[in-house]
Amino acid sequence: MTDNLSSRLLAWYRLNARSMPWREHSDPYAVWISEIMLQQTCVETVIPYFEKWMARFPTVIALAEASEQEVLNQWEGLGYYSRARNLHKAARIVAEKFHGELPRDLDALRSLPGIGRYTVGAIASIAFGMDEPTLDGNLRRVFSRLFDLTEPADSPAGEKILWGLAAEHLPRGRAGDYNQALMDLGATICLPKNPRCLLCPLTELCAAREAGTQELRPVLKPKKETPHEVHAAAVIVRDGKVLLAQRPSEGLLGGMWEFPNGPVEGDPVEGLAQAVETGYGLQVQAGEGLGVVQHAYTHFKVTVHAFRAEAVHVPRRPNLKWVPIPELENYPMGKVDRQIARKL
Ligand code: ADE
Repeated sequence: MTDNLSSRLLAWYRLNARSMPWREHSDPYAVWISEIMLQQTCVETVIPYFEKWMARFPTVIALAEASEQEVLNQWEGLGYYSRARNLHKAARIVAEKFHGELPRDLDALRSLPGIGRYTVGAIASIAFGMDEPTLDGNLRRVFSRLFDLTEPADSPAGEKILWGLAAEHLPRGRAGDYNQALMDLGATICLPKNPRCLLCPLTELCAAREAGTQELRPVLKPKKETPHEVHAAAVIVRDGKVLLAQRPSEGLLGGMWEFPNGPVEGDPVEGLAQAVETGYGLQVQAGEGLGVVQHAYTHFKVTVHAFRAEAVHVPRRPNLKWVPIPELENYPMGKVDRQIARKL
């Protein structure tokens, strides 16, 4: 059954669906990979990663059998690396418990690492044709405007209303197209700034458009300011090898490699020795500056000052490793450290 909203939307989607490589696959594994990659990352960035990934890990089993280093290597540059580690863990569970087939059961899907309510809805509707709603950033904005929602979209009350709206207009048997149509509408028409209401198939149904409040929706809770850290990093080269440190397996950039670094106050070159002694038990003498790299993570910003350094003492620790410079690219790194590595 389609109502006015869903029939207009589906008619628009028939003519305007964006072409994407995973839309050519009916393989639930491909849908799953694309949905995880598309969280926090736009379609244009994802496409080449998706194609390389599917060539390297064409099945759940291939992914389950790969090493974590290789999985992180394939993900490098997409950010939010816990997504890759969770995909890998989930693939191993699917291989073991579900014979390599993504389960069609909603609770079983939801139990897999990295699969939350959004991903369950997306996989169930797109890959399995089930009548399930989903809600991502685009859908939150579209529904907030269509119904001129004044409740903050990122509050529990707002969430509840939005999931209700996502379910309420879902056309039976067409949920996959409907959900993807809303994603495409949000990405191409119902833009965060300057929405293109004149081109929108739902303009006559849109309460915010009627009230002139499109730019004020979605309402969001006031944002806290993001903290800013200043770090110094040591690039220690000896006999053609450079000293890398592996981050703990959980948390930010878990399991990835970095140049020994730590927070500094005042002049970064003065603070380097103390920072790496505290963090790694390393004793170094700072040398020439190699440049400054900035990066914004979700919850903080960091400015990293990189220096060449001489090692006075390198403790034996399993997370410290001398790596030949030509092999650096085999070690998965975040954006900051990869930029420093490219300077070598
Ligand atoms: N964003 C997340 N999943 C998507 C999909 N299947 N189509 C378009 N945009 C998306």
